[in-house]
Amino acid sequence: MSVMVNVNGHLVDEAHAVVSVFDHGFLFGEGIYETLRTYNGKPFLLGRHMRRLRASAAMIALAIPLSDEEIAGRFQSTMRAAGLGPGSGDAYLRILVTRGIGELSYNPSACGTPSVVVIAKPHIDPPAEVYAHGVDVVLVGVVRNHPGSVSPLIKSNNLLNNALGMQEAFARGAFEGVMRNYRGELAECTTSNLFVVKDGAALTPPLDAGLLAGITREFMFEVGEDAGVPVREQVLRDEDLLGADEAFLTSTTREIVPITRVDGHVISAGTPGPVTRTLLDAFRAKARHTSSGH
Ligand code: PDD
Repeated sequence: MSVMVNVNGHLVDEAHAVVSVFDHGFLFGEGIYETLRTYNGKPFLLGRHMRRLRASAAMIALAIPLSDEEIAGRFQSTMRAAGLGPGSGDAYLRILVTRGIGELSYNPSACGTPSVVVIAKPHIDPPAEVYAHGVDVVLVGVVRNHPGSVSPLIKSNNLLNNALGMQEAFARGAFEGVMRNYRGELAECTTSNLFVVKDGAALTPPLDAGLLAGITREFMFEVGEDAGVPVREQVLRDEDLLGADEAFLTSTTREIVPITRVDGHVISAGTPGPVTRTLLDAFRAKARHTSSGH
């Protein structure tokens, strides 16, 4: 198993995976992406990721030059070249689409064809203690992008807002940073969505709070239904997280990670709570079932 990359239709190894410095993705951060993983060798919730990829592209007036079937084909061939697939371990997949190569101008017509890059590498689960004990998060000072500026709904390659938030979290020794929106409400984490559990229900900020419409977040509404746990959108503030019965974060690569400490305060008695554990078990069962061809 290795890392393989498809750059504009050409399969190459890590060392040869390059794009031009005149690509507007590099020059201006003009591009969008998706991160997927496989279960049982199959890209999980592929259709939903393709829909979000196209929605992100539309929000920056970018035309994706491939059909969903062609993108799925690139995922398959890149995984195969990396020695990944059914029976050989799950894959991390990333697709990036940028404006392409052109003159140093913001005019989209300066570029010809968008660049499309697919990365396939082995998926690595977070360490087992993350799920056994939960993680520390901190409320960071970096405010999530205003939706009227660079909307957090765009899964953009321009990740400076997130990177600055995460830098603060790293500096404070935390696993993740929780970002507030311009109104001071909780929005999401720097690379994941946020849920708090109160009185048996899992609550997550509404999209209107300015956050990425996470695919795992969306799936949680279905998982909650299966597991008999109400999952709802609700405006959340610092005190909701600090006073939560339980809390967790969600993302494609990390599934559901329990949060047991916020800004140094213990929550959930310092251990993953029963609602979080029920949802994690239900999530894993549903993810494997969904990918098993049933
Ligand atoms: N990150 N919010 C942000 C800002 C994210 O970057 C991500 C995902 C999420 C969770 O979305 P999803 O459930 O669709 O993975 C929320 C991915 C994993 C990444 O950046 O690679």
